Amino acid sequence: MLQDKVIVIVGATGGIGATLTRQLAPTGARLVLAARKEESLAILATELKVDVLIVPTDITQPQQVDTLIQRTIAQFGQIDILVNAAGAGILKAYNTIEPADLEAMLNLNLKGCFYTTQAAAKEMQKRKSGHICNVVGILGKHSMPMAAAYSASKFGVVGFSKSIAEELKRFGVKITLFYFGGIDSPFWDQVNLKVDRNKMLSCETAANAIFYALSAEPQAIPMEINIQPESHLFF
Ligand SMILES: NC(=O)c1ccc[n+]([C@@H]2O[C@H](COP(=O)([O-])OP(=O)(O)OC[C@H]3O[C@@H](n4cnc5c(N)ncnc54)[C@H](OP(=O)(O)O)[C@@H]3O)[C@@H](O)[C@H]2O)c1
Repeated sequence: MLQDKVIVIVGATGGIGATLTRQLAPTGARLVLAARKEESLAILATELKVDVLIVPTDITQPQQVDTLIQRTIAQFGQIDILVNAAGAGILKAYNTIEPADLEAMLNLNLKGCFYTTQAAAKEMQKRKSGHICNVVGILGKHSMPMAAAYSASKFGVVGFSKSIAEELKRFGVKITLFYFGGIDSPFWDQVNLKVDRNKMLSCETAANAIFYALSAEPQAIPMEINIQPESHLFF
């Protein structure tokens, strides 16, 4: 099913992204791995034992996103799938959020995801085929204390994704939104909040859900997937 598909994974070196990349490597898909740190990309690429294209990319920079897409097209001629699994969390009380915190969340989680979605969608629209997976998180659908800036960025992802999905409907391009609850990944190393990582979902659970969506037949591609740890359910 995924044999020869050209799949761009943004945030490929992260907890969710790297787990998904390892799952995709044996499928025969042609993989393009993006994140900022070239060394981490190179280490992952070596581990995979299949040829992949690595493109160090800071998705907060639209020119770098354009380069990612251009290099993918130059190498493979098309993009079939984009997985947006890059992001970070600043989780703190609303009255301690600095303008720089809000900017960082909006630049990376919202604008970065917008730039990659937009750039890939343009190529997919031309070919009248494609699938974009945006890893939002449950804080793009429900609210939680300490998440004002993060949620602002993630609710924004849902807003633009649904709007673009409407525009893309007639071009055969689909967008799937993933609302995962807490996932035990390096994401939480940077978060200054007391959380019980033992009760979180694993990166495998998240990657399995994305893999499932990518493997669905075109008419059965899910519009959203919502998976929460039992200890922390939002309905
Ligand atoms: N972990 C959770 O509990 C959870 C739950 C729901 C949703 N999510 C969302 O899932 C996504 C992935 O999370 P994760 O848990 O896998 O996080 P992670 O392990 O911290 O990985 C983050 C990835 O994003 C990349 N990245 C960060 N800034 C970037 C930038 N400016 N440009 C390009 N790549 C960048 C990182 O690589 P470099 O540092 O090399 O750039 C890394 O590959 C995020 O959007 C997150 O909000 C996470």
